[in-house]
Amino acid sequence: MDSNLINAAYLVAAVLFILGLKGLTSPRTAVRGNTLGAMGMLLAMVATLVDKQIVSFELIALGIAIGSVIGIIWAVKVQMTAMPQLVAAFNGFGGGASALVAGAAALMPGAIAGVPAIQVHVSSTLSAFIGAATLSGSLIAWAKLQGLLYWQPRGFAIRLCSTGSALVGVALGAWYVIHNEALWAFAALSVAALVYGLLLTVAVGGADMPVIIALLNSCSGLAAAATGFVLGNNVLIISGSLVGASGFILTQIMCKAMNRSLWDVLSGDLGEAAARNPQEDVYSGRTKSTSPEEVALLFETARIVTVVPGYGMAVAQAQHAVRDFANLLEARGAEVRYAIHPVAGRMPGHMNVLLAEADVPYDRLYDMDTVNPLFAETDVAIILGANDVVNPAARDEPGSPIYGMPILEVDKSQIVVVVKRSLSPGFAGIPNLLFTRNNTLMLFSDAKQAMQDVSREIREL
Ligand code: TAP
Repeated sequence: MDSNLINAAYLVAAVLFILGLKGLTSPRTAVRGNTLGAMGMLLAMVATLVDKQIVSFELIALGIAIGSVIGIIWAVKVQMTAMPQLVAAFNGFGGGASALVAGAAALMPGAIAGVPAIQVHVSSTLSAFIGAATLSGSLIAWAKLQGLLYWQPRGFAIRLCSTGSALVGVALGAWYVIHNEALWAFAALSVAALVYGLLLTVAVGGADMPVIIALLNSCSGLAAAATGFVLGNNVLIISGSLVGASGFILTQIMCKAMNRSLWDVLSGDLGEAAARNPQEDVYSGRTKSTSPEEVALLFETARIVTVVPGYGMAVAQAQHAVRDFANLLEARGAEVRYAIHPVAGRMPGHMNVLLAEADVPYDRLYDMDTVNPLFAETDVAIILGANDVVNPAARDEPGSPIYGMPILEVDKSQIVVVVKRSLSPGFAGIPNLLFTRNNTLMLFSDAKQAMQDVSREIREL
């Protein structure tokens, strides 16, 4: 087929990708954005398939069939709380695929028509290095999130080894670019990159993995873009660059919302900080526990109620029970708002996705900057399995490991009800003195159970 037509199709696909990303910036337009992105991908695939430079349709159909079966089974079976590890695995396979294409190009350098040899060699080196590091790093991230790997070496030795493996990889890559026949150097650089990805990721704390997953997502995009240069395929260059840039922006947003630098995350520094803050006796005799009956009475007169969801709501899958509870209050004339912290839960948009699943209207969701000034007019704030994102230490205690992280200023509400199962800390591993405040009541329970119990009591009032 005419290469101009193919490139025109790729251009339309790229425009659809960009419009799709734009749509995904707001929950209101997200479904349309997703459809536009999918249409762009379909167009890119069709254009690639009708292009002559393919293996055989039979092989492609076989690959699609095997991949689809594995993907569908995996995606259907995965729990919402296990989404981050699924994304980690997908990133890894993306990086691995790029490294394999780069390997094929190294073995058959003349097979790619119309691409200058120097471009093939440089870009296949980059693709192999970034792709292999993404593969091993993502598999380590997956294993940590899956609870299969707890090893977290920290300190100078591990940094020296990871930097050393990266430098060895770069040196081997340079050698291969200069001496194209040295396939051993290409193979060795791929191994060095695998070791680099492994050492870089293994030093990161298990709970920090979502940030690393966003970073690895960015790397898988860069590897795909490099592969686009290997194959002379424009749509791969554009889509890979979009993934690379958006993954990096997301990494920055997550680090900023946690008030941590990427370097802190990569070196696992929060773990040390948290370890210096023992939990013992911080709360002894200073918290007030309550019951579903008492909480129901609070809602009898409350006019403005703010629900603050966190990781515990996701664990308990309490979103539908929350929606029923809100319906009940709204039927009694109360206004119910949902306060969403950008890093509540364990993945970007975690709370938005769960609440959307329970059909909570978008206009009830308030972002942090909008809702913070409104807490002063809130009669009752109910915190469902959130901890770090409402910890006043981030605002008031300069020595705290999370000092400077923006929080939801729930403590400014008239009454705060905290629903969680115990006094255990959240992700950051530090105490939360919100639990000891005069206006705070602790409802020790699973979030879903608590919502069902409180709703039942409200109905009986
Ligand atoms: P966390 O601070 O992690 O606290 C979650 C709380 O939920 C825990 O204290 C836990 O207490 C409670 N919980 C667990 N299971 C529960 C259940 N079934 N029912 C009721 N409560 C339950 O959560 P958060 O406030 O949402 O903060 C998120 C943290 O993760 C932040 O520190 C953030 O920086 C970090 N993080 C977020 C992301 C993204 S992108 N969202 C990425 C990486 C890291 P009990 O065990 O006592 O019940």
